[in-house]
Amino acid sequence: MMAAEMEPPLAATTDTRKTPGNSSPAVEIRGVNHFFGEGEARNQVLFDNHLTIQPGEIVIMTGPSGSGKTTLLTLIGGLRTLQEGSIRIYGRELFGLSGPDLVAARRGVGFIFQRHNLLEALTAYQNVRMALELHDVKDDRQRIVGILERLRLGHRLHYKPAQLSGGQRQRVAVARALVNRPKLILADEPTAALDAETGRDVVNYLKELSAEGCTSLIVTHDNRILDVASRIVNMVDGRIKSNVVVTESVMTALFLSKVPAFAQLNPNALAEVADHMGRERFPAGSRIIRQGDPGDKFYLIASGSVDVLQTRDGVEHTLARLGVGDFFGERALMTDEPRNATVVAREDTDTFTLKKEDFRAAIEAHGSLKEQLLKVYFQRQ
Ligand SMILES: Nc1ncnc2c1ncn2[C@@H]1O[C@H](COP(=O)(O)OP(=O)(O)O)[C@@H](O)[C@H]1O
Ligand SMILES: [Mg+2]
Repeated sequence: MMAAEMEPPLAATTDTRKTPGNSSPAVEIRGVNHFFGEGEARNQVLFDNHLTIQPGEIVIMTGPSGSGKTTLLTLIGGLRTLQEGSIRIYGRELFGLSGPDLVAARRGVGFIFQRHNLLEALTAYQNVRMALELHDVKDDRQRIVGILERLRLGHRLHYKPAQLSGGQRQRVAVARALVNRPKLILADEPTAALDAETGRDVVNYLKELSAEGCTSLIVTHDNRILDVASRIVNMVDGRIKSNVVVTESVMTALFLSKVPAFAQLNPNALAEVADHMGRERFPAGSRIIRQGDPGDKFYLIASGSVDVLQTRDGVEHTLARLGVGDFFGERALMTDEPRNATVVAREDTDTFTLKKEDFRAAIEAHGSLKEQLLKVYFQRQ
C-alpha cells in the first residue's frame, strides 16, 4: 500500500527528460536553512534560501569559500537530509525523505564533485560501466565509448585511475556522472582540476546536454566558463544574495573586464562596448582574416585559439598563436592599411567582434583602451 502512495522514482527509466506534460521547475528551493553540529556547537550555515531553476537552464553559483555552496548542492542532490524548508526536484519534494527514498531521488542526478572517488581497481571504461549498471542498464559499449571519446579519453579507455593524469581522472568522473543522461547535473568546481582547453570542453558538453533539456547547477570560480550560464547566482554567508539573469551583453562585459586591454574601463564603458559586440564562431581550420584584405573588424577570442600567419617573399611564417582573451585585427583598423597577416582557427573558435566604426568610436571614447591597444600594436611590430 505504501508503495502505491509513493511518487515514482525520479529516474524510473534512464532517460526521462522527454516525458511530456511535466511543467514543474527542475529545482525549486524554498526557505532552506541548514545547521551543522548540536547543542552549543550548533551552527547555522544556510539562511532562508530561495531559488527556482527551469528545465534546460545552466545556472552558475559563485561565492566565497565557506559561504555554503557545497552544503546547498548536497541538499539538492539528496546527499544530505533536508532539515528546514522545501526542495522540489522536477516537482518531487525532498523534505521528509530518508534512506531508500533519498537514494531513489539521487538516481536522477548526475554529480560532478572535485573528489571524484573513481574505483582504483577498475579502468576508465569499467568505472563508467559501473554507473550504468547501478541504473540497471546492461553493458552498453557504444554509449560508454561514445562519452569517453566525447571527453577526449578515447585513447585511455583501458587505463586505471593511477595511470591517468588528474585532468583525465576528472573527465572520467564527468563521464561517469553523465553516462546515464541525468535530468539534473550538480557540479562542484568541475573545471578546477582541468586545463583551459579540457575545462572548456567539459562545459561545452554540459551546454550540449542543456540543449536537450538537461538542467545544470555549477559551482565555480572559473571566469572562463561564465558565458555558458543562463543565470549567475551569488552565495554570501549562507544566503543567495543575487540572482542575475545573464544577457548576452552582460556576459560580454564580464568577459571584457578580465581582458587586460579592457580591464581599465569603468562598468558603463564596458557595457557600452559590449553592446556593440557581435559574436562569430569559426570552425577549426577556417580562415578568419586574410593577409592583403582591407580590415573591417576587430576580434577578441572567447574560446579556442588561432594562428597568425604572414607570408613574406612567398614563405609563410607563424607570427603568433593566440588564445582566450587575446585579440587580433586591430592593426588594419587603426592604420587603414590592408591586413598584414592571415589568421586561421586552430580549433573551433568563438570570437567577440567589433565593426570598424564601432571599434574606432570605442578607442576614441576611451583613452585607456586606445593606450592598451597601441601598446600591443607596437609590441607586435
Ligand atoms: N560536515 C560539516 N560539519 C560542520 N561544518 C561544516 C561541514 N561542512 C561544511 N561546514 C561548514 O559550513 C559552512 C559552509 O561550507 P560549504 O558548504 O562547504 O561552503 P563552500 O562550498 O561555499 O565553500 C562552512 O563554515 C563550513 O565550515
Ligand atoms: Mg565547496
